[in-house]
Amino acid sequence: MAQYHQFDALVIGAGGSGLMSALYASKSVNTAVISKLYPTRSHTGAAQGGISAALGNMEPDKWEWHAYDTIKGGDFLCDQDAVDILCKEAIHAVIDLEHMGLPFDRTPDGKISQRRFGGHTNNETKKPVMRACHAADRTGHMILQTLYQQCIKNNVRFFDEFQMVDMITVDGACRGIVAVELNTGELHVFHAKAVMLATGGFGKVWKITSNAHSLTGDGPAIILRKSLPLEDMEFYQFHPTGIYKMGILLSEAARGEGAVFINDKGERFMERYAPTMKDLASRDVCSRSIYKEVRAGNGIGGKDYVYLDFRPDRINKYLEADGSSRRVDAEYIETRLPDIIEFVRVYMGIDPITEPVPIQPTAHYAMGGIPTDLDARVLADEKGTVVEGLYAAGEAACVSVHGANRLGTNSLVDLIVYGRRGGIHMAEYAKQVDFKLIGDDAHKAAEDTLNAIRNNAGSEHPGQIRKELQMHMDEHVGVFRTQEKLEEALEEIHRLKERYRHIHIDDKGRRWNTDLMEAWELGCLLDLAEVTAVSALAREESRGGHYREDFPNRDDQNFLKHTMVWSDNRITYKPVRIGRYQPTERKY
Ligand code: FUM
Repeated sequence: MAQYHQFDALVIGAGGSGLMSALYASKSVNTAVISKLYPTRSHTGAAQGGISAALGNMEPDKWEWHAYDTIKGGDFLCDQDAVDILCKEAIHAVIDLEHMGLPFDRTPDGKISQRRFGGHTNNETKKPVMRACHAADRTGHMILQTLYQQCIKNNVRFFDEFQMVDMITVDGACRGIVAVELNTGELHVFHAKAVMLATGGFGKVWKITSNAHSLTGDGPAIILRKSLPLEDMEFYQFHPTGIYKMGILLSEAARGEGAVFINDKGERFMERYAPTMKDLASRDVCSRSIYKEVRAGNGIGGKDYVYLDFRPDRINKYLEADGSSRRVDAEYIETRLPDIIEFVRVYMGIDPITEPVPIQPTAHYAMGGIPTDLDARVLADEKGTVVEGLYAAGEAACVSVHGANRLGTNSLVDLIVYGRRGGIHMAEYAKQVDFKLIGDDAHKAAEDTLNAIRNNAGSEHPGQIRKELQMHMDEHVGVFRTQEKLEEALEEIHRLKERYRHIHIDDKGRRWNTDLMEAWELGCLLDLAEVTAVSALAREESRGGHYREDFPNRDDQNFLKHTMVWSDNRITYKPVRIGRYQPTERKY
């Protein structure tokens, strides 16, 4: 048995894109949000440093410059019409957030304060531009709090700590979802006219990751199981500054404020790899440069990490060397970056004001995901066929604004711009159609799947399989890839999938059965790891975050195209939509 609910618009996930789409849908239709976490604990909170919009509050800027930087940062794999929308609408979206009450930091004359971030430039001088609007280093948190309050005000109905485990499809159209109420273990059927998947990323496929425990890619994994494709899964971003061995994110805002990378010799090595943008080159460039230093024996103490240096006296020296008249002191750094300063003190027991901080690249963000059109409608194939009633936005989705490498701060822009567009479209669609019938047994497949896990008589422990998966993905599907490594990864993933068929869980109960839910999530991680490795193996070139040591150059002739990968590991391709900017060599 399952409890039954009916809503015009149903949003799965309560991060920035979920809340934004729910807010806009709820302006005209009956809307609910289902979230496996309490909404304000969602992972949007991990986007610390800012949300970019060419407001030009601190220095000249244009949305067209933002668009060019995004396309160049994405190594020309972005769909350029989607990027134009992103960068143009970012300006209105940020003002919209301000009017909702988001407490942005301010300039002395009361405007929204902006800071530098990797890859964002003045297209004329080629120098970094202040484009990231920020609330200290808690910008994502503030977006969550602001949008949640607005949703409550707008009577959005929240089902907190409900986890989606299946999607209801009839004749290829989406009619709702099935979720487990974690507190009771009961199944609930949510019947809807329009469903938005805003379930976030799948960083838990890797061991060293900035992603929280809940980031298991439930939405994209369910898409695969419904015989729908995922797009550009080989493009996964490794953020250069994770706390060494832990992966916890230290915002790029630190470098925006003047911090730099240094190696074991105390050298500011990014000057060699990116002479113009230096430490504010794009993330793929910085992460590769860190590991090149490590490989050259310049890691700290010969190990696999370097330092991020944000000691104020050193920052001032770097600023002076760069010809900047700006100077900082400890109070300024503590005010602008309070959370990350505290993370370093708490997790590492060192004080970043007086000591350099050990960092290494950390699995951070999926550029690929569920293919969508410009209104966040999910696409069923490379021809652009729309799946009726189904939407996706945020990190779970791929509207292809990030291409092969996302610029910092553009994830928040994506959530807000495409979350809003999706919410508006869902509501319009829901107003035009009636509820279509679903079967009385809509919950049955989910019930069978969960019972099969609960009662499986195997001896394999899901936690052990997850650990091995993460270790292999770190080793073989990381910053540097080769055919050999990827093939090894795939063999191992297939072995782990076989072992997954023989798992055993200890908790047979109903309430808060995290054993059961984590075992189900492991199934998602395994499927997503597999299609990531399959897509990476097929792309025999290097572009953005996908670096093949055996194919070190970008190959526009053969690979200026989007990968579509299916659950049977089949790969098809679709063209990139080029606009004003023809692909050129990327220099920072
Ligand atoms: O570095 C950061 O603050 C992360 C932001 C992002 O991923 O956009």
